[in-house]
Parts: sequence; C-alpha cells; structure tokens
Amino acid sequence: MHVVLGATGNTGHVVAKTLLSRGQKVRVVGRSAERLQPLAAEGAEIFVGDATDGPALTRAFKGAESAYVMVPPNPSSSDFRAFQDRVSDAIAAAVQNSGIKNVVSLSSIGADKPSGTGPVVGLYNLEQKLNSIDRVNVLHLRAGYFMENTLPQVAVIRMVGSVSGPIRPDLKLPMIATRDIGAAAADALLLDEIQGKQTRELLGQRDIDYTEVATIIGKAIGKPSLGYIQAPDEQLRLAMMQMGMSANFVGLILEMAGALNSGYMKALEPRSASNTTPTSFETFVEEAFAPAYREQAAA
Ligand SMILES: NC(=O)c1ccc[n+]([C@@H]2O[C@H](COP(=O)([O-])OP(=O)(O)OC[C@H]3O[C@@H](n4cnc5c(N)ncnc54)[C@H](OP(=O)(O)O)[C@@H]3O)[C@@H](O)[C@H]2O)c1
Repeated sequence: MHVVLGATGNTGHVVAKTLLSRGQKVRVVGRSAERLQPLAAEGAEIFVGDATDGPALTRAFKGAESAYVMVPPNPSSSDFRAFQDRVSDAIAAAVQNSGIKNVVSLSSIGADKPSGTGPVVGLYNLEQKLNSIDRVNVLHLRAGYFMENTLPQVAVIRMVGSVSGPIRPDLKLPMIATRDIGAAAADALLLDEIQGKQTRELLGQRDIDYTEVATIIGKAIGKPSLGYIQAPDEQLRLAMMQMGMSANFVGLILEMAGALNSGYMKALEPRSASNTTPTSFETFVEEAFAPAYREQAAA
C-alpha cells in the first residue's frame, strides 16, 4: 500500500493515478471525500484528513509500505512558514509513529539552504525532520521551478499586455511540469530502491528564462510580439495581494524570487539524464497555458 498526500493536487494526482494504473494499492489523502472521489472510482482507498493533524496522518500511514508527502501551498495564510512547520511536524510524527518504511518527499531546489529562500525554508525543515528519523528510507525530490507558476500570467497578459513578474528576464531556470514530478515520484515508489536518506533534483526538460517564456507563449496565443517585463517588488506586492494572497505569503514569494535572481537559490546538480524530465515548456503551453488563455478570453 502506498499513501499519497495532496492527492487531488498537481503532483499528487499524477502519483496516485500512475500507481493505480500499475495495479498498486493506493490510499489517497485530502480534505474532501468528494474531491477524492474520481480516484476512488479508479480503485483508491480514500482517507479524509488535514495535513496539519499528526494523529490523523499516522492513521493514514498505518499499514502502508510507502508514502508520497508534500506540504500544501496556503497562499492566504497570515503566517505561511508556521503553517508549513505544522504540516512538516505532522508528517514527521506520522512517519515516526506509523512504522512506514519508504518516503518520497516533494522538495525544491534551494532546500539545501536554512534561510533566505522564502517558502523553500519550509521544505528545508521538512527534509531535516525526515532525515532525523532513523529507520526510514527517504528520497527528497528537489524540483525546479514549476511551469504551472506561469499560469497566473493568463490574467497578467490580458491586463497589462505583457508577461510580468519579479524574476530577471535573462535568468535561466530549470522549469518543470508538475506531471513529470508526479511521474518521477511514482517511479521512485514503484522501484522500491530508496536506501537511507537521499536527495535528487528534477530539473525539467531544459533551463529557460522569462524572455523565452514570453516568446513561446506569444507564439501560441497569437501575440508574436509578446514580451516580458520585470516589475518592481512594490508593484507586484499590491497585484499579488489583489489576487488573494496574504501580505505574509507575498513577502515570502518575493524573497524567493530575490534568492533566485541573485543565484543564492539554484540547482546544485549538473544536468544529466537522471534529473532531466520530458515535458518541454512548448508542450506545457500548448496543452495547459494556451487553453487556459483561450478559456479566459472567451469568458
Ligand atoms: N511552485 C514551485 O515552483 C515549486 C517548486 C518546487 C517545490 N514546490 C513545492 O510543491 C508543493 C506543491 O505541490 P503541488 O503543486 O502538487 O500542490 P497543490 O496541487 O497546490 O496542492 C496539493 C493538494 O494539497 C491539498 N491540501 C491543501 N491544504 C491541505 C491541508 N491543510 N491538509 C491536507 N491537504 C491539503 C489540496 O487538496 P484538497 O483541497 O483536496 O485537500 C491540494 O489539492 C509545495 O510544497 C511547494 O513548496 C513548488
């Protein structure tokens, strides 16, 4: 039995579906039985619980061999780092108390740093807590920058006519599609070869900067002259809060962007076949970004 946290989310649903399609027993965890229902229809066992609830997660992990764990985003939280620490405490307690043998955790590039990387500090803490539990095998997947982070640009393009954000226009980022992370996590659980405590970076198909991001999006949505503008933090702070994020969460996102821009937060492994994943940004735009853009335009 494999347990999957965040099973209705970007990475978790791919982990769960991949394992189910390979005939594995899967217990999916989320806050709503209704949202988990499509996975139950494919054969998963449902467990409704909150990721901050250690005793509930312990029950969810009981009797399972392995788990996929992640710290859910919570953009409206007024103290997101405290929320992350409550989740990583609950996960660590459940790993410790359930007797589970293998864990694959969703981490990030930059999780080697104890401070100065915004939300990624919460993943550093998750890694440290899991590494301190003796008998369990843990693989931390340190993912690059999600391609899905560009989806809010659907609204930005419609509002300001360009792609815009805090990242330097020429900063090459290892951008990855979340489905590739889910597939890699499922493979790691299936191969059952995690030994001790390990990290592995997942760096997407290639490194790509926001100038190229705008060019690829522009081509796909019929705006061939679409460009990228790096906006000042203060302007972005207001815009992101208008999108429903708390001031605290926005502050952390801007700290992370600064850490990426300065090179403090970066991938540590040289690119190789084992940390490169298949989905290109062009494919992501064709299959996810452009349809979302057309849908909003139609509405
Ligand atoms: N964005 C990036 O560039 C990047 C890069 C590297 C790593 N990461 C990390 O990736 C993770 C996000 O992964 P993802 O995109 O797969 O997540 P996601 O799709 O945003 O969310 C996963 C699921 O978590 C569930 N959830 C939310 N709050 C919960 C709670 N309190 N208790 C239990 N479940 C809860 C939600 O399901 P229900 O609503 O159904 O409960 C949601 O579908 C974060 O840890 C982030 O730091 C992000």
